[in-house]
Amino acid sequence: MHKNPFKIAVLVSGSGSNLQVLIDLQDKLGIKIVAVISNKACAYALTRASNAGINTFVIDKDSQGQRYSRQAFEEQALSILQSHRPNLVVLAGFMKILTPFFVEGVSMLGVPTINLHPSLLPAYKGLDTHARVIKAGERHHGCSVHLVNAELDAGKLIAQSVLGVHPNDTPDTLQMRVHALEHKLLPMVVGLYASNAIDFLPLPLVLWDNQKP
Ligand code: GRF
Repeated sequence: MHKNPFKIAVLVSGSGSNLQVLIDLQDKLGIKIVAVISNKACAYALTRASNAGINTFVIDKDSQGQRYSRQAFEEQALSILQSHRPNLVVLAGFMKILTPFFVEGVSMLGVPTINLHPSLLPAYKGLDTHARVIKAGERHHGCSVHLVNAELDAGKLIAQSVLGVHPNDTPDTLQMRVHALEHKLLPMVVGLYASNAIDFLPLPLVLWDNQKP
């Protein structure tokens, strides 16, 4: 077991339903969310974090109303991480591409960064995964948690959750069902880190949803 609490920083850009699951499971997982950083001032995830009394940081626009450059965003985010010293950085619905400067900066703190992605990686990296999966006529879809490296959605896979695509699925129905899987997959992986069990995972963990395709 890691020394309690196992500290987590979460980067977000949007609604934050995955953040909410982590907030709600903090005690059960033995974690403490020490910082939530958003690149969007309007992200509802910030409200969820403040409601839970968690420190929030917005790195969106400067005092002149100009959006921060990628470099400026990453410098500020890194300095927040340096001062909060999390044991794990989680990208949960964080929609900005990170450069090697940030990825290496976090790894120099000795901290892994994980990302939640709505597809069965390595298939369907990038955006609009649900629509692309339907268009391609895939029979299966799902979500992945992977380590972040300098390449987009390409770091080592940790765990995936798989569901069957229904013939009448739309991007919206698929998104809803993938979200439900994400809400189980992400806390499970975070729990493995918090209990120091992640190193014992010999291969990526694959969970099958039991709904009929
Ligand atoms: C999730 O589908 C995640 O896979 C993707 O963005 C979405 C975030 O959802 N990267 P939420 O903000 O956690 O509700």
